[in-house]
Amino acid sequence: MAGRRIVAVVGATGAQGGGLARAILADPNGGFTARALTRKPDGEAARALAQKGAKVVACDLDQPESLKRAFDGADAAYCVTNYWEHFSPERELAQARALASAAKSAGVRHVIWSTLEDTRQWVPLSDDRMPTLMGKYKVPHFDAKGEADGFFRDAGVPTTWLLTSFYWDNFIYFGMGPKKGPDGRLAITMPMADRKLPSIAVEDIGKCAYGIFKKGGDLIGKKVGIAGEHPTGAQLAASLSRALGRPIVYNAVTPDAFRHFGFPGAEDLGNMFQFKCDFEDYYCGARSLAFSRSVNPALQTFDAWLEKNKTRIPVEE
Ligand SMILES: NC(=O)c1ccc[n+]([C@@H]2O[C@H](COP(=O)([O-])OP(=O)(O)OC[C@H]3O[C@@H](n4cnc5c(N)ncnc54)[C@H](OP(=O)(O)O)[C@@H]3O)[C@@H](O)[C@H]2O)c1
Repeated sequence: MAGRRIVAVVGATGAQGGGLARAILADPNGGFTARALTRKPDGEAARALAQKGAKVVACDLDQPESLKRAFDGADAAYCVTNYWEHFSPERELAQARALASAAKSAGVRHVIWSTLEDTRQWVPLSDDRMPTLMGKYKVPHFDAKGEADGFFRDAGVPTTWLLTSFYWDNFIYFGMGPKKGPDGRLAITMPMADRKLPSIAVEDIGKCAYGIFKKGGDLIGKKVGIAGEHPTGAQLAASLSRALGRPIVYNAVTPDAFRHFGFPGAEDLGNMFQFKCDFEDYYCGARSLAFSRSVNPALQTFDAWLEKNKTRIPVEE
């Protein structure tokens, strides 16, 4: 352990941070060691990481003092917030502010902030192509993360801003799996028209983050974006059909229809997909496949990910 650089991993018991913690732990000669931060140090996920060699440390992003203690002595930190636990951009902003401040006061030498675009820089609130949500956001779970980019800059934290992508794991966990439509056909439903959706296996986000830390300071001060591929909805459906061995079509609803689906977050996600469509060139360009492979040579394609995960995708009849 001595001499290895400590990476404090926020969200280590979750998808993004878990991927990073596992990447560090799978590479004992890589020069890094993982400190897994969680509110539930006795939980199953934390115990699994401890068994693999992580040091588990209790902290709560809503308690800034606990975060300062958790970052103490860390060389690097992966910072991620979970909007979907509370649906509050203000809370996400407060958590991000606490992360930046704790990283600064602990003297962390390299932070990766897992971020997304502040879409209001492309679609001002006055632009009525999509509704304004919660009074001052277009895509709340994007905008809060993008707004928080400045906290790390203003605090003088040596930061790499990491633009992530839509997880293919959403087909397993986020209610995006194939569902039978009124016409009896199985379909995935997204308001993406014929546009490309930069997307990735979430495990690869962690592996890319590890690759970024391994580059030393090269990417400090830079904003980088990652994706495993840029498939269209039709290509995603074709791959799902092949993997699951049954026809699955792509149901390209309009963003407005998606916004009115009525589930919590539907408007936010409808606006998000519309942003990805309307600014396709920018959005894809910001998530270079070549860059992603350069920091993570094991980057998976959708087909490769499906081969490993197809049996975990719930198919709603
Ligand atoms: N789904 C997508 O396609 C996608 C794409 C790009 C970005 N994102 C973003 O990814 C974020 C979620 O990341 P994820 O998927 O890795 O989450 P996840 O798998 O749901 O796990 C959430 C993690 O955050 C930790 N956490 C949450 N609140 C915390 C708090 N108050 N204090 C300490 N730890 C806390 C949890 O730790 P404990 O519970 O152990 O404390 C857990 O490890 C969201 O903000 C979302 O917007 C999602």
